[in-house]
Amino acid sequence: MAHTITIEYTTKKKQQPHVNQLGFGKYFTDHMFIMDYDTEKGWYDPRIVPYQPILMDPASKVFHYGQTVFEGLKAYKTADERILLFRPDKNMKRLNKSNDRLSIPAIDEELALEALKQLILTDQDWIPEAVGTSLYVRPFVIATESCLGVAPSRQYKFMIILSPVGSYYAEGINPVSIHVESEYVRAVAGGVGNAKTAGNYAAGLKAQEGATDLGYAQVLWLDGVHRKYIEEVGSMNVFFRINDTVVTPMINGSILEGITRATVIELLQHWNIPVEERRISIEELVEAQHNGSLKEAFGTGTAAVISPIGSLHYQDEKLVLGDGITGELSKKIYDAVTGIQNGVLPDTYGWTIEI
Ligand code: COI
Repeated sequence: MAHTITIEYTTKKKQQPHVNQLGFGKYFTDHMFIMDYDTEKGWYDPRIVPYQPILMDPASKVFHYGQTVFEGLKAYKTADERILLFRPDKNMKRLNKSNDRLSIPAIDEELALEALKQLILTDQDWIPEAVGTSLYVRPFVIATESCLGVAPSRQYKFMIILSPVGSYYAEGINPVSIHVESEYVRAVAGGVGNAKTAGNYAAGLKAQEGATDLGYAQVLWLDGVHRKYIEEVGSMNVFFRINDTVVTPMINGSILEGITRATVIELLQHWNIPVEERRISIEELVEAQHNGSLKEAFGTGTAAVISPIGSLHYQDEKLVLGDGITGELSKKIYDAVTGIQNGVLPDTYGWTIEI
């Protein structure tokens, strides 16, 4: 499909925030991408326009039935001023997988990638260069048909917005304390847990709030059926090092197939470190901590990359991992992934693309 992406440049560039103010997802660049869909025309009118609010009918289906999906990836500026994206093709594939689950029409992945590149190039002066910073890219789709009948929308918008970011967690790469959630669950197999859709994140807020009130940074999610198998940590995939083997919950229909997760597995395989994707029960972790074999744990995601876990709080027990500092393997993975993403290390895996 040949599409021409039109560009309308802003006449009023925004003042950019200081790098120390960035945080995560608080500031947005000068432009955004939009493309519309309706059942007669398919996807049409791909365009880059000045960043601005959009007018929505209050009856738009997304407000009522949550028919929406999103993605997240980052663009980096290297020391020699090249712009790199990390495995963006995987995001576009996953976007369409989520679209399929939410009954949203597929998007031409090549066009979406082209749109993303052109938008980043348009706003390239917004890519922060300090260590630990990047330009977070948020593609998303919303159902815009104004109708309260519960049926797939006949109209949609696909949009991409950009946000210069620093660390996702205030702790950065320092270990965080985690509450093992026993009341709420995030998702069940057959539901939408493996799609990147708003409802999964909304469903997690209550437990997150409870954990925050108790002084923990995140929750560890257990499965919704047996309430004993590990699923995710906060909004990230999770890994544990038990002696010299790394284990992570297998893809089971309720957890998100993270791109950082896949990257970590591939790196470990390349380093000849045994890595297993399988069911992991909370009892197994408690036992492993008691006998000293649970050495490290960390979350993986685009936003934080690697987030080490310092302690797990399960029922009345505090299971401390390591000695409060980032584990050796967590640090090695963090340095390898961020090094490749930033162009500091050679990308021997072909994961980055330059735009
Ligand atoms: C990620 O780790 O990239 C996430 O999914 C978090 C995002 C929702 C901010």
